[in-house]
Amino acid sequence: SQYQNGVKRLHENGISKVPNKYILPVLERPNITKHQEANVTKNNLKLPIIDFHELQGPNRPQVLESLASACEQYGFFQLVNHGIPSDVVSNMIDVGTKFFELPFEERAKYMSSDMRAPVRYGTSFNQNKDRVFCWRDFLKLVCHPLPDVLPHWPSSPVDMRNLAATYAKETKYLFLMLMEAIFESLGLVESSSSPAKKKTTEEDEVLKEFEDGSQLMVVNCYPPCPQPDLTLGMPPHSDYGFLTLLLQDEVEGLQIQFQDEWVTVEPIANSFVVNVGDHLEIFSNGKYKSVLHRVLVNSRKDRISVASLHSLPFMRPVGPSPKLVDELNPKRYKDTDFASFIEYISSREPKKKNFLESRK
Ligand code: SIN
Ligand code: FE2
Repeated sequence: SQYQNGVKRLHENGISKVPNKYILPVLERPNITKHQEANVTKNNLKLPIIDFHELQGPNRPQVLESLASACEQYGFFQLVNHGIPSDVVSNMIDVGTKFFELPFEERAKYMSSDMRAPVRYGTSFNQNKDRVFCWRDFLKLVCHPLPDVLPHWPSSPVDMRNLAATYAKETKYLFLMLMEAIFESLGLVESSSSPAKKKTTEEDEVLKEFEDGSQLMVVNCYPPCPQPDLTLGMPPHSDYGFLTLLLQDEVEGLQIQFQDEWVTVEPIANSFVVNVGDHLEIFSNGKYKSVLHRVLVNSRKDRISVASLHSLPFMRPVGPSPKLVDELNPKRYKDTDFASFIEYISSREPKKKNFLESRK
């Protein structure tokens, strides 16, 4: 149907009402109040802030404590002073924006129903299965192994490959540094600069595996929506993987579930929103939480975001770390397997946490 062509197309053709295909059942609607549309910061949330630069300095122990409590209580934090050059970040947003401004026929070359294709342009959440569509178009780029996938990435806009590859490498580095800190915060490894550190442990080996882990980048495009109270940019979901590093522009829209309410994350310039994914919840045996989040759309502004999702290598099973399982903390999750990955990529119910509930 025409809706397979996405919401950018709909918006370009000019529409004044949301087509039925996008109208959620009443109970699933975002319940935006007049206040929120008017941008009154009522239900907004300031996430815990982690200073990446400070994490590398003498205050590391205190920052690790903040990191641990953010991952336990919110499943989310904002990363500031991350050290990625600002032009790398702004180039990524610019080239992503330009991709969605290409003529539709050019974008459509990358449409694919193969969920594992190295590049995939699509719409909604899972356009092959969603009964109600959401107000999002996306470009998915598999980032690992980079030399193999790069030739499949879009050749236009000019520089797309270069700029997105640079951005992917920078976020991968940040991810690796964050995982080291997270392992330390869970008491799984000692600081690499610690004088007490002697031998390489099993957990050090797991950390090394992340270097060859999976990485997926999703550029999300949410055009203005004439009736934002009837639909969502993304339905409630949790992220697969260990960590997601999300870059959003200055337009708010991301909401997370916090104390049983949907609260809007306030965008902070030059920062990343980082969240715990299902694999980290499993690996930490439930200590760190993979939290449901969703995206609101608005009637006035385009919104762009770039999510960078990281995990261990695809086929590698993930289970609770043995060091986090004892008599007081019995194993709360089964190991993942390839079948659960397939279940995840073809799931039609984004609402549940992807498979956590069923695996406890
Ligand atoms: C996501 O959940 O991956 C996207 C969130 C956003 O666009 O802010
Ligand atoms: Fe997400």
